[in-house]
Amino acid sequence: MDVGVAKATVTVLICWMCLVVPTRGVGANWGTQTSHPLPPRSVVDMLKQSGFQKVKLFDADGDILNALKKTGFEVMVGIPNDMLSTLADSTIAAQDFVSKNVSAYVNDGVNIRYVAVGNEPFLETSNGSFLKTTFPALQNIQSSVIKVGLSSKVKVTIPLNAAVYESSTSLPSGGDFRSDIHDLMVAIVKFLSDNGSPFTVNIYPFISLYNDHNFPIDFAFFGESASPVVDGNVQYSNVFDANHDTLVWALQKNGYPNLPIIVGEVGWPTDGDVNANPMNAQKFNQGMMNHILEGKGTPLRPGPINAYLFSLIDEDEKSIRPGNFERHWGIYTYDGRPKYQLGLKSPNSGSLVAAKGIQYLDKKWCVMKGSAKLNNEQIPASVSYACDRADCTSLGYQTSCGSLDERGNLSYAFNSYFQKNDQDLIACKFPGLSEITDKDPSTATCKFEIMIDVDSAVCWNVVGWWLLILAFLHYHYYAF
Ligand SMILES: *[C@@H]1O[C@H](CO)[C@@H](O)[C@H](O)[C@H]1NC(C)=O
Ligand SMILES: *[C@@H]1O[C@H](CO)[C@@H](O)[C@H](O)[C@H]1NC(C)=O
Ligand SMILES: *[C@@H]1O[C@H](CO)[C@@H](O)[C@H](O)[C@H]1NC(C)=O
Repeated sequence: MDVGVAKATVTVLICWMCLVVPTRGVGANWGTQTSHPLPPRSVVDMLKQSGFQKVKLFDADGDILNALKKTGFEVMVGIPNDMLSTLADSTIAAQDFVSKNVSAYVNDGVNIRYVAVGNEPFLETSNGSFLKTTFPALQNIQSSVIKVGLSSKVKVTIPLNAAVYESSTSLPSGGDFRSDIHDLMVAIVKFLSDNGSPFTVNIYPFISLYNDHNFPIDFAFFGESASPVVDGNVQYSNVFDANHDTLVWALQKNGYPNLPIIVGEVGWPTDGDVNANPMNAQKFNQGMMNHILEGKGTPLRPGPINAYLFSLIDEDEKSIRPGNFERHWGIYTYDGRPKYQLGLKSPNSGSLVAAKGIQYLDKKWCVMKGSAKLNNEQIPASVSYACDRADCTSLGYQTSCGSLDERGNLSYAFNSYFQKNDQDLIACKFPGLSEITDKDPSTATCKFEIMIDVDSAVCWNVVGWWLLILAFLHYHYYAF
């Protein structure tokens, strides 16, 4: 091979690589509504080794942002809905937020690229509480970002639920913004466009299926659909593309055909409903990943899809008003073990690794006492006490613990409360009903968890401080 050919080959190879690069990798939503959070540094290592490149947060937690310093992760920080009215009313509060929670971290090496103003603020269950404050808060945060000179690096957006748009014909081409918030949405879209910011939308095929049991289940996944949706000369074989392109139509009709779109949340839960199980979750999420890896985009938006999986870890303190599945969106369990494999870099090789260095409490469970009778009148009150305060969302019809017998059910509830309270002996004193065991009551499908030990580090700090104070007093006592 002569030098000219070699050079040409190298050039072709390099250019071929440039063409492949635009797939910027997938992100993860890192929520923190958990009673026992994992150490942020372990989570960051786990994310990095598993192949994630972006994270989306729901607030601006200092421990998490510090753990993300100089890691290269692209970060979206969040502003919770309960801060919106303050930020809407006060430019000073907005400036304060941006200086303490954005620029300070950017200067420290956290690669913050987005600020998410609110989280699904126009959800119908919010009763319109944030309709007046979201847009002014967005404007104040945007002005503050401009003021600190970060507006070309940090984009300000609002993660919206897909119900902010609808279709009059049930086809994507009938898409437009919901009539009751149409003008507000157009004003927001114009503002995003003027500032070079993306539209962020959360898309949930699982919810389509959950809300409508006649929904064709194969249309929820990515694959051959028995009955594709035909919209003009476009065919849709999955609801993700159809939903996404309903938004594209809505943007187009209102004059913003090219506004970039970020999929802020997409995912599938693993428990708490008949359709929520690891098999369906893996099928959906791997289908989503393959869709992203192919780089083809949707029929109306060919090209890379910028998306964040929902969610990283199960969150045992989320409200279950939307349904029992709400605490089971994690790709990982509460203690950082992958629930199933997922190929983030290539379709066929799973790359998820577990979190390392996680400490657990002792191998102890709280269960129903062998001698306790099932007709004991204390049972109903005890179970509702435990379930209200801990987590019984794995105990419904066709869920992971749905086939336990009545004694198993009661044990599950007691154990959940006991573990959530860090195996405190007092948390296993249901009157005459409970006892502690070292025999694992788990079954093939139903895991009786042992909680992670989040206090060991804190405890050591407290003990450490006391030792220091004692040493100091000791020194002074003898010195004088
Ligand atoms: C920064 O973010 C944290 C966590 O989300 C929040 O509690 C705090 O109020 C924010 N700081 C300012 C100055 O807004
Ligand atoms: C909306 O209203 C319902 C019924 O009045 C109430 O239960 C719910 O808590 C309200 N939601 C919010 C976010 O205020
Ligand atoms: C176990 O508990 C669940 C949820 O509370 C309930 O639906 C189910 O019927 C119970 N099973 C038995 C056998 O009691």
